Amino acid sequence: MRRYVIAGNWKMNMTPAATRKFITELAPMVAGKDKCDIVLCVPYVDLAAAIEAAKGTNIKIGAENVHFEKSGAYTGEISAEMLSEIGTEYVIIGHSERRQYFGETDATVNLRTKAALAAGLKVILCLGEVKDERLAGITDEVVAMQTKLDLAGIEKEDLKNVIIAYEPVWAIGTGLTATPEQADETCGVIRKTVAALYGEDAAEAMIIQYGGSMNDGNAKELLAKVNVDGGLIGGASLKTDKFTAIVDAANA
Ligand code: PGA
Repeated sequence: MRRYVIAGNWKMNMTPAATRKFITELAPMVAGKDKCDIVLCVPYVDLAAAIEAAKGTNIKIGAENVHFEKSGAYTGEISAEMLSEIGTEYVIIGHSERRQYFGETDATVNLRTKAALAAGLKVILCLGEVKDERLAGITDEVVAMQTKLDLAGIEKEDLKNVIIAYEPVWAIGTGLTATPEQADETCGVIRKTVAALYGEDAAEAMIIQYGGSMNDGNAKELLAKVNVDGGLIGGASLKTDKFTAIVDAANA
């Protein structure tokens, strides 16, 4: 049986002080709700405050990106070792905003994933089609291709530390959500692709989240789908009550 993973993606929101306040408020609200893993992915400068505030709670902390080189002349970048040394457990890689605005490609997503896994981080690997691709009827091909390229050269035994977040780009931050059927179907395509690459056992064990305007109103229906193992949540992860309601949907 796969465990739900409910992960927040704060994007470029919250200061360290706001982070401390948020986690202190959230911790008692989600205490004991252990049918899912609870993760908050926060801006780099908030990590230390988040890790400190989450100590002794069931909230795990992740970063929102990582560089693929170990060290060197890469001004402004952060390595996987830096993240893991301060106690970061997870990292989001390949978010569509990074792909859209910062030139991220499947090749760099793949390199970042390998670097993160080598440093012992758990990866939330994001992929998904843009609106034109869905309208053209090539969603399945797009997500299968991204899955293959993003996981290229990654060993089967490392897959236990990989979560795939299926995020249709047209649904992110737009208030548009994939229907539960669309989410289930496309997460299913990703799972089949993992099966073709690594075998049925690996595909069955793979946690595949849905992301794209998941909120307190639609989480229950989305999470009820057999191929949806959790959520990557942007906007609704910035409010403790909304985020808790999604955690509750995963614990029902
Ligand atoms: P959203 O963002 O929930 O605000 O649509 C999801 C994401 O970008 O991970």
